[in-house]
Amino acid sequence: MKEAVSIEGLGYTYPDGTKALKDIKLDIYEGESLGVIGPNGAGKSTLLLHLNGILNSNGAIRIFDLKVNKDNLMQIRRNVGLVFQDPDDQLFMPTVFDDVAFGPLNLDFSKAKVKELVDLALREVGMQLFPERISHHLSFGEKKKISIATVLSMQPKILALDEPTSNLDPKSRRDLINLLRSLSLTKIIASHDLKMIQDLCQRTIILDNGRIVAIGKTKDILQDETLLKKHSLEIF
Ligand SMILES: Nc1ncnc2c1ncn2[C@@H]1O[C@H](COP(=O)(O)OP(=O)(O)OP(=O)(O)O)[C@@H](O)[C@H]1O
Ligand SMILES: [Mg+2]
Repeated sequence: MKEAVSIEGLGYTYPDGTKALKDIKLDIYEGESLGVIGPNGAGKSTLLLHLNGILNSNGAIRIFDLKVNKDNLMQIRRNVGLVFQDPDDQLFMPTVFDDVAFGPLNLDFSKAKVKELVDLALREVGMQLFPERISHHLSFGEKKKISIATVLSMQPKILALDEPTSNLDPKSRRDLINLLRSLSLTKIIASHDLKMIQDLCQRTIILDNGRIVAIGKTKDILQDETLLKKHSLEIF
């Protein structure tokens, strides 16, 4: 199996001295879906922010054969689509269309191709009626769906999703799970929605206090009540 993401010796300390990641070693294989679970403050979002170079990993991460560093950020971001935990961090253009078109426009596609990619991405998240809406007027769940579309429109090889189901109504959540299942790319999904992780991810890691404390098949991890409890998790 080929590695899509390869992480070795990754640590990260925020400027205020908070040690958010400690000595992370992790391989994620092409085509797999990996769940990332753990208590609040465990480092899940911090880990995802490293995958497309938003936080600097000092060469500790490779995406396919490319080291993540500031010289190849453009190429890394073409490959890795990151959906932030907070959609207000993702949406910054006046309209939904502009937000979803932003990535493909930067890749210098023709206008017609950009429109096609935007239409497809909005359809995939069930928001095809929203292109003219003002992004910052949308509800939280609607913003979440548009955030996912802004990344799908780039057609990345790797999708990193931070709490993709938070604030979605049950039907939207189910539609999103079905959409994610239908996409055959590599997925890394950080979430407290363990049922969604169970539905989508073959393997899961538990992060706690900046360290990977467990890694294995999702069903084995989620069946281990003692392990879950020890890390402030609980199965449904
Ligand atoms: N910008 C920042 N500056 C300083 N510390 C930060 C910053 N962002 C996060 N942290 C700290 O880093 C640690 C990891 O935070 P992170 O957001 O990665 O956790 P998380 O596992 O995603 O939590 P949650 O489940 O609440 O989303 C926490 O102790 C947090 O307080
Ligand atoms: Mg988080």
